[in-house]
Amino acid sequence: MAGADLGALETELLGEIASAADLAGIEQVRVAALGKKGRVSELMATLGKMAPDERKSFGAAINQVKTKVSDALDARKALLDKAATAAKLAAERADVTLPVRPGPMGEGRIHPVSQVFDEIAEIFADMGFRIAEGPDIETDDLNFTRLNIPPEHPARQMHDTFYLKTPGTSLTGEKAPFVLRTHTSPVQIRTMMNQKPPIRIIAPGRVYRMDSDATHTPMFHQIEGLVIDETTHFGHMKWCLEEFCKAFFEVDQVKMRFRASHFPFTEPSAEVDVGAEAIGKPGQWLEILGCGMVHPKVIANCGLDPEKYQGWAFGMGLDRITMLKYGIPDLRDMFNADLRWLRHYGFSAFDVPTLAGGMST
Ligand code: DAH
Repeated sequence: MAGADLGALETELLGEIASAADLAGIEQVRVAALGKKGRVSELMATLGKMAPDERKSFGAAINQVKTKVSDALDARKALLDKAATAAKLAAERADVTLPVRPGPMGEGRIHPVSQVFDEIAEIFADMGFRIAEGPDIETDDLNFTRLNIPPEHPARQMHDTFYLKTPGTSLTGEKAPFVLRTHTSPVQIRTMMNQKPPIRIIAPGRVYRMDSDATHTPMFHQIEGLVIDETTHFGHMKWCLEEFCKAFFEVDQVKMRFRASHFPFTEPSAEVDVGAEAIGKPGQWLEILGCGMVHPKVIANCGLDPEKYQGWAFGMGLDRITMLKYGIPDLRDMFNADLRWLRHYGFSAFDVPTLAGGMST
């Protein structure tokens, strides 16, 4: 090959190198020029057949081309490498000044009723109460009879109670109608039938009544409390409920009023009002719960000796005190499963109420 051709080859190759647009392109040029079957390598292979003089001069010339091409390849590759890295960095750039995304733990919300139950559980746990539970579908016997609510009692009438079509077998073995429990009080019965005093429990849960307007929904929540031992009395109940109200409403002093009332399962019975100062509205009373000394007949109905054991109980509307504490205006909205409502009134999963850390902070 003549020197002119070598010069043309060099120009051609350098041109290809200069116009290679990316790393893949530059690699193609390299293989085509310097690879085993590349154009420069093939020229090198012709040296062996040349006369010694020719080989010397031609060899030197090819080597020069090879060096130039190889240097040009390296330089272009370095440039393209840099450009590729810069492009990648630009494409994958993270803006570290953006605010942290909440993620699933921060995105979800705890329903105010669940939050308030956790608050109440925390307060009563501190006073030595355990949490008890019972089923939503309850026998007529546990929901009413054993609580000293005889068959002719108004609470039993169809307009209040959801009866199930199929009767079942009661705890004591006889065929009995099933109801959706109308209150959490049957958990008192279950607890007294299943464990020996001393008993100190709270029992939260869903309850059902055929009722629906701005302040009533067919399903709502109650929390029941029960203390049974040999000596506990009305004074203990007053103290516990007062301590509960102070901790729950996060105030040092709370005004409370115990109004005489009637429940078939307690004697004497009372309804408790709290001074609305506790929620920043002085001058009004808010009814928050019913309570009383457990009726001796109820104690006997659970197989315990009423001569030996005595105690007290209370029942509180969970939804109602949630609305009072957190200023929620309409009960029905609580159960509409509207995400906008939940985002507004709900709590972060990190907001675990504790006595030490605060109930609602
Ligand atoms: N079970 C009653 C209701 O649903 C509330 C209640 C009142 C529960 C007095 C009690 C109590 O334990 O002692 O209206």
